[in-house]
Amino acid sequence: MSTVSIDLFRRSKIEGRKIKMVTCYDASMARIVAGTEVDTVLVGDSVAMVQHGFDSTIHATTEMMVLHTAAVARGLGGKKFLVADMPFTTFRKGTAFALDTAAQLVRAGAHAVKLEGIQGHEDVVKHLVDSGVPVMGHIGLTPQLALALGGHKVQGRDAEAVEKFCKEARDLERLGVFSLVLECVPAHLGARISGELQIPTIGIGAGVNTDGQVLVFNDMLGMSGSFKPKFLRRFAELEGGIAGALNAYCRAVDEKSFPSESESYT
Ligand code: KIV
Repeated sequence: MSTVSIDLFRRSKIEGRKIKMVTCYDASMARIVAGTEVDTVLVGDSVAMVQHGFDSTIHATTEMMVLHTAAVARGLGGKKFLVADMPFTTFRKGTAFALDTAAQLVRAGAHAVKLEGIQGHEDVVKHLVDSGVPVMGHIGLTPQLALALGGHKVQGRDAEAVEKFCKEARDLERLGVFSLVLECVPAHLGARISGELQIPTIGIGAGVNTDGQVLVFNDMLGMSGSFKPKFLRRFAELEGGIAGALNAYCRAVDEKSFPSESESYT
């Protein structure tokens, strides 16, 4: 039986143990993640950019999210807590529509959904929580609003914005979210919100004092070209390794050293 439980988040906060989260989009990578120390996995709407080549997360549809969530759930084999993003606008069309979308993600294998922002959809957050769908919040830079924010910029730099985000964080906690992603905010704001809330925060570009960290799988493994925002650390440089292996394969085919006799059927 799977021991995966939402309790992980509450316990980690109480025990001061950092939560390690990564995004993941397919079954083969999920199988690898399942055997690591990573605590929890996010099928982010970044899938639209990372896997489908779009220039923004707004292109993630429910169909796309369900497909990738189901693939990742199969790859994880129940070994990690799985969160799936609610796509652009799906939580702005009323509570019934949002619940239907969340139900599709949960039926695909997600243990929780994440949705961006709070203003204007407080009722949706509450309705999902009251309906038994665990909700992870997401404030700071909310990429689905990048058009309105004027691009992917650090948020919460002035005093007014700091107070706004602190209030949003408190409001989301009050509405029942079990955890909160803080994206691209100054480290002092990440620390302040993390200190004020009972629920754990998970930062991406929010400094070291959040209760956990999340990174995009392909970015942290050096598989996203020249993309290198300030907050990103590459824990491997796989792009060069993959290209090198492909070129080695091409040379072996040209030289007729592949397949060898032992790689051929008699
Ligand atoms: O979609 C995503 O990958 C995310 C993370 C950046 C937190 O929301």
